[in-house]
Amino acid sequence: MCGIVGYVGNRPCRDLLIAGLEKLEYRGYDSAGISLLQDGRIDSVRAVGNLANLRAAVGLEGDGDGAVAVAAPPATIGLAHTRWATHGGVTEENAHPHGDCTDRIQIVLNGIVENHAELRRQLAAEGHGFTSETDAEIVAHLIERHEKGDLTDAVRSAFAELRGHYAFAAMHSDHPGTLVAARQECPLIVGLGDGETFIASAIPAFLAQTRRVLLVDNGEIVTVRASGADLTDGNGATVSRESEEVTWDEDAAEKAGFPTFMLKEIHEQPGAVAETITDRLAATDHVDLSGLELSDELAAGIRRIVIVACGTSYHAGLVGRYAIEQWGRVPVEIDIASEYRYRDPVVGPDDLVIGITQSGETADTLAAMRLARQRGATVMALTNIMGSQATRDADVILFTRAGLEIGVAATKTFTAQVAAMYLLGLWLAQVRGTLGREDIAALITELKGIPSKIATAIESVDERVRAIARSHHEGRFFLYLGRNIGLPVCLEGALKMKEISYIPSDAYAAGEMKHGPIALLDESTPVVCVATESPVLDKVLSNVAEARARGADVIAVATEGSERVAEVADQTLYVPPTDWILQPILAILPLQLLAYHVARLQGLNVDQPRNLAKTVTVE
Ligand code: G6P
Repeated sequence: MCGIVGYVGNRPCRDLLIAGLEKLEYRGYDSAGISLLQDGRIDSVRAVGNLANLRAAVGLEGDGDGAVAVAAPPATIGLAHTRWATHGGVTEENAHPHGDCTDRIQIVLNGIVENHAELRRQLAAEGHGFTSETDAEIVAHLIERHEKGDLTDAVRSAFAELRGHYAFAAMHSDHPGTLVAARQECPLIVGLGDGETFIASAIPAFLAQTRRVLLVDNGEIVTVRASGADLTDGNGATVSRESEEVTWDEDAAEKAGFPTFMLKEIHEQPGAVAETITDRLAATDHVDLSGLELSDELAAGIRRIVIVACGTSYHAGLVGRYAIEQWGRVPVEIDIASEYRYRDPVVGPDDLVIGITQSGETADTLAAMRLARQRGATVMALTNIMGSQATRDADVILFTRAGLEIGVAATKTFTAQVAAMYLLGLWLAQVRGTLGREDIAALITELKGIPSKIATAIESVDERVRAIARSHHEGRFFLYLGRNIGLPVCLEGALKMKEISYIPSDAYAAGEMKHGPIALLDESTPVVCVATESPVLDKVLSNVAEARARGADVIAVATEGSERVAEVADQTLYVPPTDWILQPILAILPLQLLAYHVARLQGLNVDQPRNLAKTVTVE
């Protein structure tokens, strides 16, 4: 996830800004930059890679060779940014800050501007020139378009033209004592110091300097000066809000007040899914995967899709299979990458092979993708990391945009992968003509509603899940049962339980229970069952009854409004209704929380479970 830090005050701010970026490093980034304003001019430096490269570029490190002189200290106003690439590759040109045509305005932005392509076309027609591939750069040019002497007004007018979810901050060389920032669904916080003010995307960026914060809400513009900050709304009306004192220590601040990264990341899922889908679903009736470089002809001619992946990514693939087969009517085969690569698979030019890997670096998945490519298949990487090995080994890349995941147990990267598989399934249906326009439009509407349903589901089930965890955290075994689209949810739920709570757990196709696993059930066994609305719900409910008859304690995940489940389960956890194929992205949430609370009640380190490591690619 990108990071924003801005400062205006009376101290030289170059080092303060870079120190602020360092505090945001844990969020992940692939490039960074800084702009400083002094003597009526702005100097900017950007660098690919880690902050040591930026420090070297501004002459703070090394022998300074090749260092570009930014306005030497003591500039007392500036903006800095760490970028996690989403639109446009990892290059110096794409790193922030971005400027307008006159180099008087600089901006840094987090999030995604959905209508960037349309705005870019308009601005280009008006004569604006662009130096990057980013959606962010258009914001600098929009401010330039509206600038008539008042930076706040110009930012407000630019803000009104943007769609999407973003936060940005701007600086203008004619206004040396002012930063102006705006927020729409991405975090933005003001830090109020003594004769100095910070603006940042997260509190750790300035916590060492001040603990007094002013929160910026959606739709608000904040004008930041050394003496303080003024909030206004989209119409220019003043917004009054009291500042608050932060009591967190630095460790808690990195976790945004959550006790663990895993819980923080569970709560980041609405944002991770929104980032992954929104601009691709900007139209009401079609999916835009224009960056995919998979031609419609090729997509229409695919004979078969083969998915290869490991761990949680494999489970996302299992969910994807249902969406692709149901909507796109393409047969899908799926295999664990470490099996596929050693089984001399039959694969060739008519196949599309999709390697799902959040890190883009898992060796078995990479090997399976390479093997398929050698045999003539078109290979797609579905990954969260720009520049990862998978992106280099694939013909086609589809990115999730979940940001860096620090907890070893995958949570937000899973839901982002599932969301991306839904996009792909719908896109295939569109190019192959297997769903009508109205059906696609209805599914797009449903998909767009998913981020807020994720937020609702997490809030509404958490207390109940805690109570269930208290009853079962000393259990010896958890069995997860599901059918059809519910089965991958169970597999993923059981994996979460094993990896972070160390309680043996198994997930089974509910219809197979009677062929063996039923022998495991006794009065003490918690049976977790995914019983969301679907064409197989009746079948699932008869399996639930079988488990209950053996005395098992049945914990069911059901769709709100579906009363039948509560009649047969001991405990029912409700998730919001949606199209049945989309239910897994909601049904997994109580199961992530269940594993989490069970592990926490045992006092375990959920962020770093024993024997497990996450593949890390950000250096
Ligand atoms: C490791 C992680 C899992 C992850 C798997 C695949 O085992 O602990 O959470 O699902 O690798 O990782 P990938 O980066 O390929 O998705």
